[in-house]
Amino acid sequence: MEELYLNWYNFANEALRYEVENPRSFGKAHRIVVVGMGGSAIAGDMIAIIANSTGSIPVFVWKDFYTPKTLIDDSTAVLAISYSGNTRETILSLEQALRRTDMVGVVASNGKLLEIAKEKRLPYIQVRRGLVPRAALPILLYASLALLEACDVKLVEKSDVNEGIEVLRDVETAKSDSIYIASYLQRARLPLIVATTRYNALATRVKNELNENAKMPAKVEIAPELFHNDIVGWEAAVVSDRALIIESDIEYERALLSFYAEYLQERGFEVTELKLRGRSLLARYLYGSLVAGLASVRIAKMRGVDPMTTHSISKYKNLVTALEDRVRSSIEY
Ligand code: F6R
Repeated sequence: MEELYLNWYNFANEALRYEVENPRSFGKAHRIVVVGMGGSAIAGDMIAIIANSTGSIPVFVWKDFYTPKTLIDDSTAVLAISYSGNTRETILSLEQALRRTDMVGVVASNGKLLEIAKEKRLPYIQVRRGLVPRAALPILLYASLALLEACDVKLVEKSDVNEGIEVLRDVETAKSDSIYIASYLQRARLPLIVATTRYNALATRVKNELNENAKMPAKVEIAPELFHNDIVGWEAAVVSDRALIIESDIEYERALLSFYAEYLQERGFEVTELKLRGRSLLARYLYGSLVAGLASVRIAKMRGVDPMTTHSISKYKNLVTALEDRVRSSIEY
C-alpha cells in the first residue's frame, strides 16, 4: 500500500494524459455539483474548496442516493465520481441528474457508471483500474479537473496544477513528516483533527485515512464553527488524548488555531501540527493527503492491521444492494 502513495507523482502525471471521451460544453453552467461517496467524493470536496476560494463558479458536493431538487437544474453541470463505478449512491444520483440537466460527466475506472456514460454518450474519463479509491486520490482529482476543463469549465490555473504535481515528487520529505505524525497519532484513542473551513476537506481526508487504512476512529472539528460548540464540550471533561491541528496559510486563521491548541492543552490534550508544503491550496491539499496516507499506512503496520481491506464498507454495500429496490421507490425523480 505504501508504494501506491509513493507513486502519486506518477499517478498525477498519468491523470493529465487521460483521454476525455465525448467532450461537450458545460459553458452555460451556473454551478457544478459533484456526486460521489467516500474516497471518490473527497476529490470533489477538495475541488469545491479550491474552486470556491479562487474560481468564478460555485462547486457543491452531495453524498447520498438522491440530490435535492433545488440543487440540480438545467443550468447545473454534474460530475459523478466513483472509482469502482459501482457505488449505488453515485449511480442513483447520476440517474436523477440525467433527468434534470444535459451537462453530466463521469470519472470512474469501471462499472455501471462507465456503462451509463458510454450508452448516453456523456463526457467521461476512464481511469486506471486495480487501486483502492483512497490511493487513487491524485488520479481522481486531476481527471476530474481535466474533464471539466475539456467541457469548458476551468477551475484551477495550470501553474497550480503543476505545483500540485511537484509537491508529490518530494517523497522523502513527505515520508519523514509521516513518520512523525504516525508515531504521534498511533498512541491516540480518538484523535481530534482540527482545521479551518479552508482545510475542511483535508481534515476529513486525514480522518478517513485513519479510519480506512489504520482502522482507527477519529473526530474532525472545524474552526471557526468549533468555537461555537466543541470548545464548550471539553470544559468539564478529563482528557488525555491527542489532537492534530492542520496548519493554515492565512495569518488570522493561524491565530485561531493557536488559541485552540492552547485551550486543548489546558484541558489535557497533547497537540501537534500537520505542516503543509506549497503555495497553492491544491499543492497543500495534495501534500497533506500524501503525509496522511503514508502515516495511516504506517500506523496500520504498528497496529498489525491490513491497510488494504475495508470489510465493513463491503458489508454495508451488500446491504445497499439488497435494499436497492426500496431505495429507488422512495426517491423522487
Ligand atoms: C476509499 C474507499 C471508500 C470508497 C467508497 C465509494 O478507499 O474504499 O471510501 O471510496 O465506498 O466507492 P467508490 O469510490 O468506488 O465509488
